[in-house]
Amino acid sequence: MSKSFTIIQGGMGAGISSWRLARAVSQHGQLGVVSGTALDEILARRLQDGDPGEHMRRGLDHFPFSRMAERIWQAYYIPGGKPADQSYLKLPMHSKDSPRERMELYMVANFVEVFLAREGHDHPVGINYLEKIQLPHLPSIYGAMLAGVGYVLMGAGIPVRIPGVLDRFVNHEPASYPLQVAGAQDSDDTTLAFVPREFMEQDLEPLARPRFFAIIASNVLAATLLKKSNGRVDGFVVEGPSAGGHNAPPRGKPQFNQAGEPVYGERDKVDVEKIRELGVPFWLAGGYGSPEKLREALSAGAAGVQVATAFEFCAESGLRDDYKQALLEKVVSGHARIFTDAVASPTNFPFKVAQLEGSMSEQDVYLARPRICDLGYLREAYRTAGGTIDYRCPGEPVSIYISKGGRAEDTVGRKCLCNSLVANIGHPQVRKGKHVERGLVTAGDDLTEIARFLPPSKSAYSAADVITKLLEA
Ligand SMILES: Cc1cc2nc3c(=O)[nH]c(=O)nc-3n(C[C@H](O)[C@H](O)[C@H](O)COP(=O)(O)O)c2cc1C
Repeated sequence: MSKSFTIIQGGMGAGISSWRLARAVSQHGQLGVVSGTALDEILARRLQDGDPGEHMRRGLDHFPFSRMAERIWQAYYIPGGKPADQSYLKLPMHSKDSPRERMELYMVANFVEVFLAREGHDHPVGINYLEKIQLPHLPSIYGAMLAGVGYVLMGAGIPVRIPGVLDRFVNHEPASYPLQVAGAQDSDDTTLAFVPREFMEQDLEPLARPRFFAIIASNVLAATLLKKSNGRVDGFVVEGPSAGGHNAPPRGKPQFNQAGEPVYGERDKVDVEKIRELGVPFWLAGGYGSPEKLREALSAGAAGVQVATAFEFCAESGLRDDYKQALLEKVVSGHARIFTDAVASPTNFPFKVAQLEGSMSEQDVYLARPRICDLGYLREAYRTAGGTIDYRCPGEPVSIYISKGGRAEDTVGRKCLCNSLVANIGHPQVRKGKHVERGLVTAGDDLTEIARFLPPSKSAYSAADVITKLLEA
């Protein structure tokens, strides 16, 4: 089954690879992948926006535990949508022992996204998570499995303990996951736990075990994952530094070009032959969105390519229309530019940023935003002096970050990706009825090439246009 598609539409958080995009790709026989990042917040905001098209309602109606689905509907749905100047509700912050309400929201939101992406066809759909965003993993994966997700893809970390989680959830058994806690001591309890039966309203048949693909940027990591994972790894996505989103940092002593972007060298190149020798199917990613590059990948022994930037700007993606159109126009006029920002992301990974007027890529827009951390997906868990677990983000107010043991120099240039990425898909937080959060668009270096997907004399293209073009290979 894993060889039956050549193109994986890469996961794009938050909400860029929405159910609509993944469904369009899977309907065309390639692997559509929804982003699993921040789906809880996204579902809550879609409901507060009045659930246009009633898609969320349809997803909720199919959730196997109807009382739980109803609680969420009642908590967030606003008929006709909230007034534009009203803030979205603040969700209870997630933590190692998140409130039950939040666990339910993770589970239901992941179910709904996968359910909708699978509607109307029989092809598999995948879900993408970032390993670094650990707190939501267990209820999210369980929710996606309840909806029959076919593939779980995970990068941005070393996901050796995920395959075993997938195995446990097949029979609705409890699963655990080690939370990384800075400064933790051996005696600290840092284990995340999730017991499906504490949430199930009735017994269910066993679930299908999704295939697990790890997204990696080194052959050493691929070999480690095969050796150390607590369950089967079914494939790899091998991602290079021209990919959109977060990139693996360059190896060795950091070097920067004149513009301040990290410089990658020979040591960062993945030895594809070594990956091939591992005997597991793999897809190449990062600048592979053309028929020529697809052909090159296939002749290197890959099962295909993972492509994201090309799909980000197609009609079905979740990126808001004004940003999509503005960036497409820049591409066509030759003015599109990507900057690899070494500090913007609180994760400390390089993050690719499309330069766009009015967005957080501009210094004055960034400086005008008061530092607020109220979504918290990228917070790092750390051990407090009192031995408890707390959370901090270098994007939060500097004095608060320092009071939590963080270093002032680590806050410089940090951007609130959480709020910006949710703004990118049309659900910006509104503060005091006035300040509206701005987006920050990420895209791969291939952005400048996407005009190749525009049909003659058209200013927009579809997921099918991308697939047809790539398969010319
Ligand atoms: C807008 C955008 C968001 C992304 N978000 C994620 C993500 O949440 N998780 C992830 O594993 N990769 C993410 N990526 C990386 C893609 O899944 C993919 O591997 C990569 O972009 C492929 O390179 P390409 O953009 O040159 O086609 C993102 C890429 C883009 C363009």
